[in-house]
Amino acid sequence: MSKGMINKIIQGNAEEILKKIKNNSIDLVLTDPPYFLDKMDNNWNHKTVSNITDYCNTIKSLPPGMKFDKEQGIRFYKWYLKISKELHRVLKPGGFFFSFSSPRLYHRMASAVDDAGFLVRDCFVWLYTQNQPKAMSLNHFIDKLNTNKKNKMMIKDKLCGWKTPQIKSCFEPIVMAQKQVSGTFLKNMMKYEVGLINSNVKIGQNMFPSNVSSVQSIDALMDKYFLLPKPSKKEKGDFNIHKTVKPLELCKYLIKLTTFSKSTIVLDPFVGSGTTALAAKELGRRFIGIDSNKEYIEIAEKRLENACGRDGASSYRTMRTEMPLFALPR
Ligand SMILES: C[S@@+](CC[C@H](N)C(=O)[O-])C[C@H]1O[C@@H](n2cnc3c(N)ncnc32)[C@H](O)[C@@H]1O
Repeated sequence: MSKGMINKIIQGNAEEILKKIKNNSIDLVLTDPPYFLDKMDNNWNHKTVSNITDYCNTIKSLPPGMKFDKEQGIRFYKWYLKISKELHRVLKPGGFFFSFSSPRLYHRMASAVDDAGFLVRDCFVWLYTQNQPKAMSLNHFIDKLNTNKKNKMMIKDKLCGWKTPQIKSCFEPIVMAQKQVSGTFLKNMMKYEVGLINSNVKIGQNMFPSNVSSVQSIDALMDKYFLLPKPSKKEKGDFNIHKTVKPLELCKYLIKLTTFSKSTIVLDPFVGSGTTALAAKELGRRFIGIDSNKEYIEIAEKRLENACGRDGASSYRTMRTEMPLFALPR
């Protein structure tokens, strides 16, 4: 590597850039890859994606009846299998891999991660209540039926409230996978400083860390168990035009849960507007970010620069000691 990559965001195709990272050198991979829905795939182009509106999402992807492109999932799997194999190579033994995805194609993502050699340990859920339902009424198609007005009215009446099968989506699944530990958990932890979870990290009102989280207050019971700090107005940056920015506190939660020391390197090969890198930086960890779109890298760098001087933030591009914290018996 990788030294020249530390605390930087690198522009390029993740498949190519990952090849430059050394074996067993990364402590944690936390990423939010393209979900392969609409035009958000491995050829994600900032201009094309910026022009997607909810209207064309629904109408264009639903010609007569409802288009459901099974090929999307197959393409996603094949591509993510290659990426996951590289991530498996660069992670230290016992290193964790968190990958966000959509409820619709989670199975493809998790299968790719599994088939690449990881142990799938869990599925985390990021819950929210606000989202635009995508289900469509069929009135538009009923109007085009070859029948008289009265029949059309009758059909509309009977199908009142019946819509295309797209439920309102209120969560994002995140796979929690792990590279096999070398020897026992203890030996692995002492040698590589990864492989265990930190139960000192709390969620809600001082609760044991759980696989469900929200950054939005829902009700007293849900908040008690699952609430993470809410996003601050400043965290995203009003210059941030990325379409799929993830909550900073959720990224911090996952980093704190699975990384032991300040010498940790957190890798995000699809870093977008830099949320993972910012979370790592604010926690005093090191990061490597990759993204193919320079517009997003500029946003990420601005967010990182703005974070200088916040609590726990080290100065941008700081190198840290790589001395192991455990004295290993010889
Ligand atoms: C879901 S977004 C990540 C958003 C990020 N979590 C944030 O909070 O801003 C996925 C990112 O992957 C990038 N991308 C897509 N294909 C890529 C590829 N082949 N190599 C590197 N980056 C890619 C896109 O430019 C996009 O910014």
